[in-house]
Amino acid sequence: MKQALTIFGGTGDLTFRKLLPALYNMSASGKLPAERIIIIGRRDYTTQTYCEAAREWVRRFSRIVFREEAYRQFIQGIRYYQMDFTQEAAYDALDDFYQESRIDAHIFYFAVAPRFFPVIAQGLGRVTGAEQGKVILEKPFGESLKAAEELNDKLEAFFDPESIYRIDHYLGKEMIRNIQTIRFTNPIFKNIWNADYIDYIQISAMENVGVETRAGYYDTSGAMKDMVQNHLFQILSIVAMERPQDLSPEGMHEEQIRVLKALRPVSPEQIGSQLVLAQYEGYRQEPGVSPHSVTETYAALKVFIDNERWKGTPFYIRTGKKLGRREMEVTIVFKRPEPGIEPDILVVKIQPEEGVHLQFNIKKPGDTDEISQAKMDFCQSCSLENRINTPEAYERLLGACLRGERSWFSQWDQIETSWNYIDQLRSAYRQAGNPIYVYPSGSNGPEAADELLEAEGHQWIVEEP
Ligand code: BG6
Repeated sequence: MKQALTIFGGTGDLTFRKLLPALYNMSASGKLPAERIIIIGRRDYTTQTYCEAAREWVRRFSRIVFREEAYRQFIQGIRYYQMDFTQEAAYDALDDFYQESRIDAHIFYFAVAPRFFPVIAQGLGRVTGAEQGKVILEKPFGESLKAAEELNDKLEAFFDPESIYRIDHYLGKEMIRNIQTIRFTNPIFKNIWNADYIDYIQISAMENVGVETRAGYYDTSGAMKDMVQNHLFQILSIVAMERPQDLSPEGMHEEQIRVLKALRPVSPEQIGSQLVLAQYEGYRQEPGVSPHSVTETYAALKVFIDNERWKGTPFYIRTGKKLGRREMEVTIVFKRPEPGIEPDILVVKIQPEEGVHLQFNIKKPGDTDEISQAKMDFCQSCSLENRINTPEAYERLLGACLRGERSWFSQWDQIETSWNYIDQLRSAYRQAGNPIYVYPSGSNGPEAADELLEAEGHQWIVEEP
């Protein structure tokens, strides 16, 4: 049996920037998920010119040191196949190509906008054995709950639901995977992970890049759909979930869903104190962005989880582009033992540095009983050995798909539940007529986002470098 990984959207940003470097890493460490990699694109490349064009991307973005010899080895399995994947008849020729190449086991990667998913699935109906293959779908999965449902029905009509892998590459990040270990295997955290001891939790994903070359997609999406609905709600549900009975993937999945279902509903009357949307200055002048765009490039929200563990604890979430720095962290701020004493703070650093930071109170050294704050830092990514051994997110997820490990992927009911909540937030914001604020590039975002926390006597915790 000869297995092929076919990438639709093979000349797009995602393939060059993320997928090929990940596959090269896998090839260099002997873990390539398939014997053949078929790249499908409309552009006029041959296999040779495509591999030439891809070399620089792989060199720039691969985790391991680029070696020409390893690259030559890697590209031996690549074939470029020029095709307009929106034309159903083109799939007959694709089928012939698979037959000639003696390929009879498939993984399909849809690295294209979701509106193309149905047309590709339909076309694959003409390819022998395609319906028995696995399919990996890039996010965003739909653009609203309704669109996501329609998409799901179309895909499930063709592929077995168990063979559909919806990628959320944040689930492949080392420190996100680590959150459950930190939480559940350390009594010092496990026993105080609740509203009695925790004052508030902050999930912050700051980016310094703008929309770059993706305006066409981004301007129809925005921060809520691009980051919050998927990546940040995944993190939220892992941080807040109950301990699954057996720590199995299914158990974990169920607990994550329970968190999303317990998110407190929002109304247009309250939305002003719960959600702030903003756009960076100059966004409308970016190539490909509408000059009247009201798409948000920044979102900050305050949510509550109405269950026993989290009664009254605010979760603050923020993400934005063109901010002063790139930094992704989960920050747990514990309750002050008494007024005037600083809170203990635990920070799980997800990127660019990976690690854990703990701030707690100690006595100032010397002839005094004054209190000061000790800061303990564990930097996981500072060790060369850890860096070499930690697979990049896409590498890990491609490997997991091959092994059929579904816990590394988003499940349909998670997507459905989080769309439901995002739709609710967005429509309340619109109904209330709240503005899209503007913030300067290189800043920390709009001031209105600070006010979300100030109302509760809280503030965004910023790690000093
Ligand atoms: C993608 C979003 O899913 O994640 C991008 O579409 C965002 O807009 C990216 O920049 C962030 O990923 P990472 O791995 O760089 O944090």
